[in-house]
Amino acid sequence: MVSPEQFRDVMARHAAGVTVVTTAGPTGYHGVTVTAFCPLSLDPPLVLVCIDRQQQSHRLLETAAGWVVNLLSRDQEFLAEQFAGRAPLADSRFSRLPHHLGPLGIPRLDGCLAWIDCRPWARYEGGDHSIFVGQVVALDLGPANDPLIYFERQYYELAW
Ligand SMILES: Cc1cc2nc3c(=O)[nH]c(=O)nc-3n(C[C@H](O)[C@H](O)[C@H](O)COP(=O)(O)O)c2cc1C
Repeated sequence: MVSPEQFRDVMARHAAGVTVVTTAGPTGYHGVTVTAFCPLSLDPPLVLVCIDRQQQSHRLLETAAGWVVNLLSRDQEFLAEQFAGRAPLADSRFSRLPHHLGPLGIPRLDGCLAWIDCRPWARYEGGDHSIFVGQVVALDLGPANDPLIYFERQYYELAW
């Protein structure tokens, strides 16, 4: 048998880049910290994110007209914490956070390594998560920087 603790401990050894997935819903802008992001297809250009079915962001992504994957840079740990609901501003995650709107009218967080603007393509069941596949309709590079990495439940920078 695989226990949840063992599963989490082993998966924590998978180093991952950190993203924030933003969307625009009926109650305003929303964002959620996500490491379960993966490029999927080049032709057509597709990416996927895996979202816990219990989360508010799951409900929003089910009906969203689009979403943006913001790739965080090494100095954006505060954004990862903010959009994971751990920071003091959790009730209004966008207040005072510099952002601009992408071509779909969905926020792009300033200073990210890159932004990937998606239209919904498909959603698949994945146990207690859903796999949201997005068709990439626009994308841009931000300022060059190193990525923010999550490993063993802590944030890291690349060490060269
Ligand atoms: C580093 C990090 C990575 C995370 N990755 C994911 C993820 O890939 N998918 C997910 O559903 N939640 C992930 N979470 C948890 C959500 O960010 C967190 O539960 C958030 O508060 C959910 O907000 P919501 O209920 O408004 O959607 C992650 C949290 C952290 C700190």
